Amino acid sequence: MTRTTDPHEGAGPPIYLTTPIYYVNDAPHIGHTYTTVVTDVLARFHRMRGRDVRFLTGSDEHGQKIERAAATRGLAPLALADEMVARYRALWESLGISHDDFIRTTEPRHRRGVEALYARIKARGDIYRDRYAGWYCTSCESFYPENQVVDGRCPDQGHKVEWTEEESYFFRLSRYQEPLLKLYRERPDFVFPETRKNEVVAFVASGLKDLSISRSSFQWGLPFPDDPQHVLYVWFDALSNYITALGYGEKQAPLYERYWPGIHFVGKDILRFHAVYWPAFLLAAGEPPPRQIVAHGWWLRDAAKISKSKGGVVDPLPFIRDFGADALRYVLLREMVFGQDASFSDEAFIDRVNTDLANDLGNLASRTLKMIEDYRGGVLPAPHGEDAALRDAARAAWDGLVEGFESYGLQTGLQRVSEFVGALNRYIVQHEPWKLARDPQQAAKLDDILYSVAEGLRLVAVLLTPVIPRAAATLHAAVGGEGEVARVSLATFRWGALKPGSRIVRGQPLFPRIDKAAQLAAARKEPRMDTPDVRKDPSPAPPAGASSSVPGPAPAAAPAAAAPAEISIEDFTRVELRTAKVLQAEKVAGADRLLKLTVDIGTETRTIVAGIAARYAPDALVGRTIVVVANLKPAKLRGITSQGMLLAASDATGAPYILTTEDPGVPAGWRVK
Ligand code: MSP
Repeated sequence: MTRTTDPHEGAGPPIYLTTPIYYVNDAPHIGHTYTTVVTDVLARFHRMRGRDVRFLTGSDEHGQKIERAAATRGLAPLALADEMVARYRALWESLGISHDDFIRTTEPRHRRGVEALYARIKARGDIYRDRYAGWYCTSCESFYPENQVVDGRCPDQGHKVEWTEEESYFFRLSRYQEPLLKLYRERPDFVFPETRKNEVVAFVASGLKDLSISRSSFQWGLPFPDDPQHVLYVWFDALSNYITALGYGEKQAPLYERYWPGIHFVGKDILRFHAVYWPAFLLAAGEPPPRQIVAHGWWLRDAAKISKSKGGVVDPLPFIRDFGADALRYVLLREMVFGQDASFSDEAFIDRVNTDLANDLGNLASRTLKMIEDYRGGVLPAPHGEDAALRDAARAAWDGLVEGFESYGLQTGLQRVSEFVGALNRYIVQHEPWKLARDPQQAAKLDDILYSVAEGLRLVAVLLTPVIPRAAATLHAAVGGEGEVARVSLATFRWGALKPGSRIVRGQPLFPRIDKAAQLAAARKEPRMDTPDVRKDPSPAPPAGASSSVPGPAPAAAPAAAAPAEISIEDFTRVELRTAKVLQAEKVAGADRLLKLTVDIGTETRTIVAGIAARYAPDALVGRTIVVVANLKPAKLRGITSQGMLLAASDATGAPYILTTEDPGVPAGWRVK
């Protein structure tokens, strides 16, 4: 376990971050990896911001799902759990996950805490015995009322459900409908992002039934405290981990005192358990509810969720083996707009590593170090003045990353750093140090340039430390940065910290370029993914030229349109035009004309499907500022909901030319009039 210590003891209140505890029915895949990497990145980020951070992960080992998986393999459930826990631990180790604790629900400390929590809830009169009759989904470990089950499958994930009738103890969840609604009202950021909060509020507002919290038809679970014939419902058991790991229920629980309430990172599939049941249990026990539940989207493969039960599984290990943990960490963060779904593919992975890490950052580092070696004998020269423009660009990257990461805009934060890396590359091209090096008159200028770029690289290393900790440490040391980069404070921006006279260290390239063709051919022979059970996208292709949200070539035989009728200025202002930054662009599978763009419109991120693929490569769009109609009714194209339309002019053949702003500094979200 790699662990960085808090460089600013006492700056800001303590912060407690948790991942879900993972089921041990099978080995970890990219979905689990994502939740853990995101939490790790934020734990590292907050430590560098000076916060006292505690970071917990662990394993969820009880319940019918695990019992069955173990039986299938002819193992005792605990033996299966031991095997899988070892795999999880090894994966987190190889990914550099910096958790402070790993809790297993089969540990005695957990059981003690769960029993203490149960006792408090019972003492308040919220437990009673009855009979449960209804549907149960073992895959989700969830009960579903009759009216929610569709064709024998659960409404959340489409798994097969089973009719279950058994004696059961119930928790009076219905009592907590109002207290929960009050909680959501009083703490609007209790669930992030807001769209997810709205779903939770709607769910609770539609009425809460009491929840069965014991099972009596199988054995593998914590014994129900009041009745050894029953086992505790696995979600009650599992959710309690967040406090049992802090010593809840022990005579002294200093960690609980210090760190609770915490922030839980979860996938959207398990939001209801965290944002409804969990705070209700805590309210019932008279304990503070969590500080926040942060829900991320799903990694998909061809529109199907990657999951153990449904296939399409991406194993993270070959990616770590072939390209390194940092590359995987970076790509996971960079390719998913936090909160939304994203697609995972070998090709997108390789492109992202090659573009951002090998080309832009890696080459910048190599050429800078080589120039310092060739022109200054490997010793960092002293600058003769400060390059204000470059310093300001560094500051913008710093602020962008900090603001982004503080508000879960992980992708936007990284984008700001990429922009700065781009600025450093342009700075070199613009100043042509290789020419200056031939002219002794220009020695001072060359010193300035070499120093500025090295200092810029140091700051990039600092900013990227939470995301690519190993490569960032190498880069920081390479440009002569002092001490451990993870101990540099992200609390205050400082330009000029590199000490002139330090010796640079030129080693291996940070991120070697991946040979895409060779890797894709190898992946075809030995896939990094299982055969997916792909749910085919059911929506039909849009008729050519007929969609409102896809500018593009008009159908060849279209009659010349009549000139539009005159409109008033009021009519025009009903159209909300805004500047937007393209965060991500990708081809839409099976549609030659279409690109799917993820754009920042200032207040939120949107998906826009645009018919511009014939003229624009996806990569050429990322980072550009475009103009979008922000209040257009969403339309579905090839199964993707397009939440707006970009503006483009078209020539006589109908080829699109996107509208962009003259000044590249115009931010996302400005009104266009
Ligand atoms: N054991 C429960 C959690 C209990 S927490 C008190 C559980 N475990 S899990 O192993 O099935 O999944 C854990 C996490 O992995 C969830 O956050 C889930 O959203 C995430 N992912 C699993 N598949 C995923 C994707 N395909 N994409 C992104 N994350 C997904 O649920």
